[in-house]
Amino acid sequence: MSLQGFRGEILSLSNDPAEGCDAVRHDADGLLVVEHGRIVARGSHADLSLRFPGLAVERLEGLIVPGFIDAHVHYPQLDCIASHGEQLLDWLERHIFPAEQAFADPAHAGAVAGAFLDELLRHGTTSALVFGTVHAGSVDAFFEAAQARELRMICGKVLMDLGPDGLRDTADSGAAESKALIARWHRRERLGYAVTPRFALTSSDAQLESAGQLLADHPTVLLHTHLAENTREIAEVAARFPQAADYLDAYDRFGLVTERSVFAHGVHLPDRSCARLAESGAGVAVCPSSNLFLGSGMFDFAQAERHGVRLGLGSDIGAGTSLSLLHNAGIAYQAGLFKGYRLDPFRALWLATGGSARLLHIDGDVGMLAEGQEADFVVLDDKATPLLARRTARATLEERLFALQVLGDDRAVRRTYVMGQCAWDRDGLRCAA
Ligand code: GUN
Ligand code: ZN
Repeated sequence: MSLQGFRGEILSLSNDPAEGCDAVRHDADGLLVVEHGRIVARGSHADLSLRFPGLAVERLEGLIVPGFIDAHVHYPQLDCIASHGEQLLDWLERHIFPAEQAFADPAHAGAVAGAFLDELLRHGTTSALVFGTVHAGSVDAFFEAAQARELRMICGKVLMDLGPDGLRDTADSGAAESKALIARWHRRERLGYAVTPRFALTSSDAQLESAGQLLADHPTVLLHTHLAENTREIAEVAARFPQAADYLDAYDRFGLVTERSVFAHGVHLPDRSCARLAESGAGVAVCPSSNLFLGSGMFDFAQAERHGVRLGLGSDIGAGTSLSLLHNAGIAYQAGLFKGYRLDPFRALWLATGGSARLLHIDGDVGMLAEGQEADFVVLDDKATPLLARRTARATLEERLFALQVLGDDRAVRRTYVMGQCAWDRDGLRCAA
């Protein structure tokens, strides 16, 4: 029996609502028809059930949305969440670099990668763009764990030849190891590779140049790094690259700003950077809970929208405070208000699904629950807590979605499906997970 049916309330975004088109796709009583893990039909149950007589249908209680797509996260920092007391550069020195050194041990990397992916599924996240550590083995461990769970994941070895003792590669070793990892993992099943210089301050000019060369030699891999997160970081980048017009330009000079480039944060961007991002097709992974936790600042949604910058949503664990993209969407709304921007709940859902998918160039396969896409989806429970139940009683779809973003987190994820198979069941009814 290769055809499966899933009946319930289905919601997705087929485009960025900020672009003004009719982006919301909502089936109040809908049906997803899945064959070999892919969606072959979607529509109202009344219409579609006639087209598929005899289809075995599973009824799902809740709101079915695409699996969330985390556009920026560090798996090795899973156990660093809630590290107290510092802004970015001191936080890295005091908390993060010591923790990342342990990933020289492949057994440690494998254990954390497995725990991280299980946590993602519990939070409704089915795809992500992920930092490893400087150790090539950390990326092997991650891809092995993702492959075992049949997840669509993108990861890369961190390039950092100016990193601290015990956490440094060289321009040559970084390039050679990246090449070998690309050959081993890129486009293998559902996996993809991202060339991953940590940020401008931890790579020499020679290493940034070799990263540009890797991109030129492998046109289908992504570039993944950090950009303009913290004011002290930005001042240090300006001092290191006096010729560069701004932080983004320091990357641009090495061929690192392309339509396949994903920059995390972009909290403090001059208009020139936004215009260049939009022109190049590169985009920003907005990381609201991280920006709040490290005191970095608030992302300027209005500025990005004015320039037409491509956006996705990231948890940025361990600086972020929750793997839940529902929770991060709620924080994004609150951060947006500080800059006079009212993030629409449908747009927030877009950022966590199709927007991130587009940013990561996986929107052909996931993010919209469209016919032909892979059946990665989440069943949300808008009555998961007594307070959510009170707030969503008699509410409109938009109000329910907003309540899920402000009050919801992993508790609101009833089930997570990967390729049409249940991979997480909160209530332990459907799959062992
Ligand atoms: N900039 C360079 N490295 C990091 C990191 O690990 N986390 C965050 N949030 N910013 C960074
Ligand atoms: Zn980060």
